[in-house]
Amino acid sequence: MADPAGTNTLQALVDELRTGCERSFGDAHAMPPGVYTSPDFLALEERDIFAQEWQCVGRASALKAAGDYLTARIGEQPIVVLRDEDMQLKAMSNVCLHRMSVLLEGRGNVRRIVCPYHAWNYSLDGALKGAPLMDRQAGFCKESYKLPQIRCEEWQGWIYVTLNQSAPPVHTQLAKLNELIDAYGMSNYIETFHEEHVWNTNWKILAENFMESYHLPMLHRATVGPHSRLEEMECPPGYPAFNYHWITKEASLPIGNAHPSNTRLTGHWRKTTALLAIYPTHLITLTPGYFWYLVLQPQGVGKVHIRFGGGLAPEFIADPEANAHMATLKQLLDEVNAEDRRGVEAVFRGVHAPLARPGQLSHLERPNYDFARYLAGKIGAH
Ligand code: FES
Ligand SMILES: [Fe+2]
Repeated sequence: MADPAGTNTLQALVDELRTGCERSFGDAHAMPPGVYTSPDFLALEERDIFAQEWQCVGRASALKAAGDYLTARIGEQPIVVLRDEDMQLKAMSNVCLHRMSVLLEGRGNVRRIVCPYHAWNYSLDGALKGAPLMDRQAGFCKESYKLPQIRCEEWQGWIYVTLNQSAPPVHTQLAKLNELIDAYGMSNYIETFHEEHVWNTNWKILAENFMESYHLPMLHRATVGPHSRLEEMECPPGYPAFNYHWITKEASLPIGNAHPSNTRLTGHWRKTTALLAIYPTHLITLTPGYFWYLVLQPQGVGKVHIRFGGGLAPEFIADPEANAHMATLKQLLDEVNAEDRRGVEAVFRGVHAPLARPGQLSHLERPNYDFARYLAGKIGAH
């Protein structure tokens, strides 16, 4: 962004995105290709979105015991989220206070956080407890070291973190979503699997793919496509912090419908699936019996890191048959995801084309229109 020509190009791209977003939904178009390919645009996203917003890093049910932890990044900041001695969720910088090595990797359980470099070690609240041989240095004061704490909140069983001290609480931002999906009782859904992947596409192309079910009959023609009924899909306008749509599907597996002992959901809700896109990067498929999700993180413009997990509603957890159904479902999800991967990687190749032009959106892509307007509202706002 140092050279003036580059700045002008970036400003022209932001203006193009904004102008596009001023169209009414009836004449809405896809976003300009540059938003998916420009490293300068990604730098704006990092500054105005990823450094500002709450981001999901996983499911609280994955951290059951004291010392259970998971690691993640917010932009360039490695973080660790753990269950402390008092069973509270805590998020901290995952960078050693000595010569700044990253501390923990992946997921696991620790009683102390021990640095893999020189073994400085920290309690679960981040206080430095040990630093080998440092007592020979007169100026060293162990008590003055504590890992920087990071804001961490739990919402509906999800762990959210942010580096922004002034971001309004998650439950405030998602109050409307709480109302919409209250009856599912998502807080109590239990994660049964979690994986991490990297795909060769821009993070927004994958997010947008999740937001619309218009592609189901074609892209997923070999799997779930034939069971999808586009005419039964409902895509209401979104809200400032999220968009959503509803689909009803003939559940091929009993876990897609509410369990007989589920008294929270009534009528058509017992077979309705909610597709939730919580900005910027948290995508949830919530059914009466199970859920699965993606959490995205850009790795440059052309790669996206994906946390992919899912699990069961509490009524199904104890049921061995449900767990077998979940295994069947996981196989299907893997096939569907492979189709989506081909789809979104093909779009990423397409948006580089000199002749690429954004076309009009269908009525089933209302969430994409809302997502574009969310981006246009955030980019350049700080
Ligand atoms: S960098 Fe962590 S102990 Fe040296
Ligand atoms: Fe898909």
